[in-house]
Amino acid sequence: MEKDFWEKISDNYDEEIHDVLKSDQKSIVTAHINRIASKQKTVGDIGCAIGKWLPLLSGLFKEVHAIDISQSNIDYAKTNHGHLKNIRFRQMDMTVNPKTKYSFDVIVCVNAILIPDYEKRQVFFKNLNRFLKPKGNLVLVVPAFESYLFSEFIIDRSNRKENIADDEIKGKISKAEHFAFKQGTAKLEQTPTKHYLEEELITTLGDFGFTNINVEKVEYSWDKEVHDLPNKPLGLYPWDWLVTAVKK
Ligand SMILES: C[S@@+](CC[C@H](N)C(=O)[O-])C[C@H]1O[C@@H](n2cnc3c(N)ncnc32)[C@H](O)[C@@H]1O
Repeated sequence: MEKDFWEKISDNYDEEIHDVLKSDQKSIVTAHINRIASKQKTVGDIGCAIGKWLPLLSGLFKEVHAIDISQSNIDYAKTNHGHLKNIRFRQMDMTVNPKTKYSFDVIVCVNAILIPDYEKRQVFFKNLNRFLKPKGNLVLVVPAFESYLFSEFIIDRSNRKENIADDEIKGKISKAEHFAFKQGTAKLEQTPTKHYLEEELITTLGDFGFTNINVEKVEYSWDKEVHDLPNKPLGLYPWDWLVTAVKK
């Protein structure tokens, strides 16, 4: 999803783009914003698009900076919310080194870091850090890979129950790769081995009459995966799932 895509989307934005603010079932994002908001603070809404979060942010913060790569989205945001006097609008690409220097108290960045390119994502994350004051707060929403895979599992499970064939396999990857990707079958020491998602385990055990299902990580040293790995993540390890459950 590059700039061109976002420039063309504004006219059909509501039909094409998922509205996190509206769909957040427990209003968890709003709750976090409320917790850290103050009329003394500045906030950057990075990847603001047509400005769904701007009325909320405008009421909670001293100053709001609405930033987006797409000039047409910024224009829509201005048309919709330009009457709110504490909002500044700015077209800017977060995947390049910025000319402007910000020092926000809070950054809200909802589903904006979507670009597949690894290097560009790194710059985006670096800029989020650069644009915050020390001890500033980041509220970040990104698509969850686990959720994508879990949805695939649920669709497949439902199709099998209804005896519907999986004719969704399209595109350039082979059927085998597609199957492996969707089903979590990855090679361990050359042996195709099933890997589970937490939510998949809970659903499967629920299907088979278990209750009180509790899933935890059994953590291992990185040496299990690869010897002498440089740059190990601090306090994060590879894991298996440990499940405890009770027969209904
Ligand atoms: C899915 S929309 C999310 C909009 C908004 N945050 C919301 O929750 O309604 C993603 C937005 O991020 C913007 N975006 C994507 N890449 C960007 C970049 N490199 N720099 C700044 N904005 C970017 C897009 O133009 C788009 O408006």
